[in-house]
Amino acid sequence: MQRLALGWRAGGARVGLVPTMGCLHDGHLSLVRRARRAVGGGGKVVVSIYVNPTQFGPTEDFSRYPRDLSRDCQLCRQEGVDVVFAPSDEQMYPRQAGAGFSTFVVEQDLARGMEGVSRPTHFRGVTTVVAKLLNIVQPESAVFGAKDWQQAAIVKRMVRDLNFPLKIIVAPILREPDGLAMSSRNKYLTGGLRQQALVLRRSIQAAQGELRQSRKPIRAAALKQKLKRMIEQTPAARLDYVEFFEPNTLVPLKLVQRGAHIALAVFIGKTRLIDNAAL
Ligand code: PAJ
Repeated sequence: MQRLALGWRAGGARVGLVPTMGCLHDGHLSLVRRARRAVGGGGKVVVSIYVNPTQFGPTEDFSRYPRDLSRDCQLCRQEGVDVVFAPSDEQMYPRQAGAGFSTFVVEQDLARGMEGVSRPTHFRGVTTVVAKLLNIVQPESAVFGAKDWQQAAIVKRMVRDLNFPLKIIVAPILREPDGLAMSSRNKYLTGGLRQQALVLRRSIQAAQGELRQSRKPIRAAALKQKLKRMIEQTPAARLDYVEFFEPNTLVPLKLVQRGAHIALAVFIGKTRLIDNAAL
C-alpha cells in the first residue's frame, strides 16, 4: 500500500492525521481545524474514514453504523482537508490465499476499566486500526477528541510504549447548544429520545454541583448511587457505568475531589452514549 505522507514529508511538509469512522459532524471538523493549526500553513491534513469492524462487538451496531462517504468528502473539501483516506475492508484486513489477518495491538492496562468492561474487544480493535493508520499515513501529529477520553489515553500509551514517532493531540469535546456531546450515534435518537439523552450532561453537572457545594471530598460510591437514581428517573435511560478517576492514569477513585474526572455510559433506548468531564 502506498505510504500516503512520505512524499510530502520528504518535501518538508508537516502532516497531521485525524482518524474517524465518518458520518462527520462539527466535533470531527473541530479536530480537522486543530490538525491544521498543528501542521501550519504549508502542512497537509489527512482525514481517515473507516468504520473499523474489529472494534465492534458481535451484538453492536457495526452494520447499521451511519455511513455517508460523499457527504463526508464534501465536508472535508470545505474544511480544506488535503487527503481523505477511506480504505476498504480488504485493504485494512487482507485475507490472501487463505491467510487471514492475525496480528493485533493490545494495550493491557488502561483498556481494562470502563468501556473495556462493557466492550471487552473494543480497544484491541481501536489500537490495532490506529497503529495501522499511523503506519500507512506516517503523520507527525494525530488529533483525537476528548469525547472518547479513555480511547485518547490508550492511544497515547500505545504511542509511547511502541515508539511511534508522532505527537498525539487531544482536542476538547464539542457539544450541541443544549449540551449533548456531538456524536455520529446521535442520529439514532429519534422522537423523545433526543431530549432524554440530555441526562448524561445533567449527571455530569450534578456531580460538579455536589463537589462545588462540599468542602470535603465525596465518597465515589455515594455519588454514583445518586447519579444512578437520577438517570433511572429518565424512562428510556439505563446506566451502563459511571466512574470517577485520575484523568491521566484512569485509576478509579474512592474519594472524589477537584481535579478528578468523571466518565459515564448510558443507554438511551438501544443507543449507547458516552460523555466525560473534569470535576
Ligand atoms: P469516531 O467516533 O468517528 O471519532 C473520531 C474522532 O472524533 C475521535 O477522536 C473522537 O473522540 C472525536 N470526536 C467525536 N465526537 C466528538 C466531539 N463531540 N467533540 C470532539 N471530538 C469528537 O473514535 C473513533 O471514531 C474510532 O475509534 C477511531 C479512533 C477512528 C478508530 O477507528
